[in-house]
Amino acid sequence: MKSIQQSEVRMTSGAMLLGVMGDPIIHTKSPIMHNAALKSLGIEGNYVPLHIKPEGLEKAIQAILTLGFRGVNVTIPHKVEVMNYLDHIDEGAAKVGAVNTIVNNNGVLTGYNTDGIGYVRSLKEEVCPELRGKNIVVLGAGGAARGIIHALTAEQPGQISVVNRTASKAIELAQEWSSLANMQGFSQAEAQAAVHSADILINTTSVGMHPNIGQLPVPEEWVPEGIVVSDLIYNPLMTELLHVSARKGCSTHGGLGMFVNQGAYALEYWTGVAAPVAEMREAVLQSFKL
Ligand code: ATR
Repeated sequence: MKSIQQSEVRMTSGAMLLGVMGDPIIHTKSPIMHNAALKSLGIEGNYVPLHIKPEGLEKAIQAILTLGFRGVNVTIPHKVEVMNYLDHIDEGAAKVGAVNTIVNNNGVLTGYNTDGIGYVRSLKEEVCPELRGKNIVVLGAGGAARGIIHALTAEQPGQISVVNRTASKAIELAQEWSSLANMQGFSQAEAQAAVHSADILINTTSVGMHPNIGQLPVPEEWVPEGIVVSDLIYNPLMTELLHVSARKGCSTHGGLGMFVNQGAYALEYWTGVAAPVAEMREAVLQSFKL
């Protein structure tokens, strides 16, 4: 058997081990983005895709400790279930009811949710620096909507209207967080007036996602001219909603920024240093061109 050199042992034990657990995981862009970030920061380490089936999740989380991972991201379908296997859950993640980032601090596992805060950081940096007092309409009331709405409530918006195909989910969500912001839930049929008075319109539904790229989550006529329109979808980078909105003079914001910034916050939890956001974004953009 080949003997391991002392220098190799030191190199391996000093490297920062990171990864993403999901099912499926083959299409994830996270390793490309985070490995580019580690390289740019000069941190020795590796971020790997980990295909974990639901029945293997508990053991996979224990393996973080056994293998000495500094942390992992978790993605579909594990974001809710994983909360059962952690030592601590950050307050924001507990309210949202989902974890996408785990930090291993000397054997203690803490779960965070960086999706919502990543989204808001990107929205403010790219199109709308000030959210205070704004009239925000969110299309959808699922897991993604919960994350971003929770983060938006911290920005003192004037009003958040939640519009959903299944109206009861929108109404219940608005009631649950009524102490955090001025919120109201609507069915799609009732939504026209709410959308008409929006300063910011955000699509969190999968309507318009590849391969259904021609679809719109609301009729074109409903979108007011000159507002901010944001779509969480990043495949395609420009959805039909964003195309229609750009033609109406709106400022548009695609889902790539949310993806990059949820990763940036996660990396900051793991490394304690500012993430190289521009390099991360560029790495993901390049990978779309391959
Ligand atoms: P995610 O984590 O991506 O938010 P989710 O929790 O399954 O996924 O939520 C999907 C959201 O998109 C829901 O608000 C869903 O509406 P329902 O609650 O009525 O299911 C919405 N959605 C999905 N497909 C839709 C469609 N074709 N038209 C309108 N809304 C749709």
